Amino acid sequence: MQSENARLSKLKEIRRQSKLGGGEARIAKHHEKGKLTARERLDELLDPASFHELLPFVTQRADLAENPEESLPGDGVVTGYGQINGRTVYVYAQDFTVMGGSLGEAQSQKICRIMDLAAQNGAPIIGLIDSGGARIQEGIYSLKGYAEIFRRNAIYSGVVPQISLILGPCAGGAAYSPALTDFIFMVEKQSYMFITGPNVIKAITGEEVDFESLGGAQTHLSVSGVASLTAPNEVETLSLCRSLMSYLPSNNMENPPFYAPADVPFRMDAELNSIIPDDPTSPYSMHEVILRVMDQNSFLELQPAFATNAIIGLARLNGCSVGIVSQEPSALAGVIDIDASDKICRFVRFCDCFNIPLITFVDSPGFLPGVNQEHRGIIRHGAKVLYAYSEATVPKVSVVTRKAYGGAYVVMSSKFLGTDINYAWPTAEIAVMGADGAANILYQKQIDKSADPVAERDRVMREYTEKYLNPYVAARAGIVDEIIEPSETRVKIISALAAIREKQEHSPARKHGNSPV
Ligand code: HXC
Repeated sequence: MQSENARLSKLKEIRRQSKLGGGEARIAKHHEKGKLTARERLDELLDPASFHELLPFVTQRADLAENPEESLPGDGVVTGYGQINGRTVYVYAQDFTVMGGSLGEAQSQKICRIMDLAAQNGAPIIGLIDSGGARIQEGIYSLKGYAEIFRRNAIYSGVVPQISLILGPCAGGAAYSPALTDFIFMVEKQSYMFITGPNVIKAITGEEVDFESLGGAQTHLSVSGVASLTAPNEVETLSLCRSLMSYLPSNNMENPPFYAPADVPFRMDAELNSIIPDDPTSPYSMHEVILRVMDQNSFLELQPAFATNAIIGLARLNGCSVGIVSQEPSALAGVIDIDASDKICRFVRFCDCFNIPLITFVDSPGFLPGVNQEHRGIIRHGAKVLYAYSEATVPKVSVVTRKAYGGAYVVMSSKFLGTDINYAWPTAEIAVMGADGAANILYQKQIDKSADPVAERDRVMREYTEKYLNPYVAARAGIVDEIIEPSETRVKIISALAAIREKQEHSPARKHGNSPV
């Protein structure tokens, strides 16, 4: 009995020490910065009392430690599994109080073990990142550790969802693990990511920049497109991750979870009938269209401040997860540029990996013209969107609300890229180009010769619109499945999804394709 008590006391003491990470003083310093510890973060993220730690007693490589006597409990990372809304997830949370959360060999082995277990058991991987990067003392062992993580990020991509929450520094090559995952969430004014920091940049290029403008949350949300979402503090960032999980299946063999809808499937919306302005050049809000069609309060927009001419996000329709892709006509008139192409392509591929049907709303005058876009490779970036839609075998529905001109018609989930059901509103303009452009090319001589060129231009544009710029030409050709009243869009999409949910589509066998990048 006595020895049993002694054994239990020893275990309790080791556990207590391991939970203290870098010690009380460092925890206090961490709290002073307004940051939660790794364990507090896991408590916030996971269902109450659901976290079970694995490998807590692992310590660092002693041979390279500055002080081999001092053990580093957990080697700067807390690893294990827990639940979010009752579903298992595998998690790792870097502990900044232990050598700044820097990645040593043992830390990387712990993270890799969690990733392997997650993939073998078909559960998402969530990384809570707060680290000074490669542990300087462990040199090549640290770099090897990163490579082992990166390889798993790549191999498990499309097998289980991978989510990175950046809660502090994430610098150097360390940023490539999050970059290989499906989603990156950041905390405003607390987290930052960059490959080379302000000091190195100043030394090499002479540019002066601070941490925040170089790689803070706002920069990655609105300029680089690296961040999927940001939140004002850690608690809200962790809560965003829980919300995101509610749309996702646990792995690529499952369907996304169903939530009893808080909205009726047959809800008509008469306001949509008048949402498109009479003037084809006037903008309107596609966000509003999406919000009106989807289940109430279910739209989770991703990358909302990057390439705002494109919209991507997850939503629910009659309780089922869907991926939304669209243009925003009130931003750059909804043109497709390089950034919009990248944004759309990655999201379409994500939805396809994880059995999330795609709903595409189309209103775009085409690809953005310009030397800058051409020289930066709009050809290869635009091609990614074609590739992603063509390759996607999930159920696909599209709705052309207004413009679907030329290349924009083709790339945005057109019938011939394998879309199952294509709808158009009566306001749809499916054509090679708009009336203005056509008047310039087809009728300019006729206009010039006319006694009243302005009236003649008006007349030919009306004639062109009547004859070509409407959805009926495409409907007659069977390219559009149905022209619907805008008010019935929700009903129509829900019924279409029910009809195509069990679709089986198989691509020819291959090792993998070679998507343009
Ligand atoms: C070892 C590190 C460390 C590191 C921080 N620490 N980074 N130990 N290796 N990379 C330790 C510090 O010595 C300190 O220990 C504790 O962590 C907290 O660090 P502070 O500097 O006191 O914290 P703070 O002021 O908040 O600054 C955080 C920081 C800074 C900005 C992250 O620590 C920093 O610049 N670290 C180095 C970043 C870096 O250059 N990493 C290598 C990137 S290259 P004590 O004992 O005092 O608590 C890379 C290559 C990967 O990652 C390649 C993969 C392909």
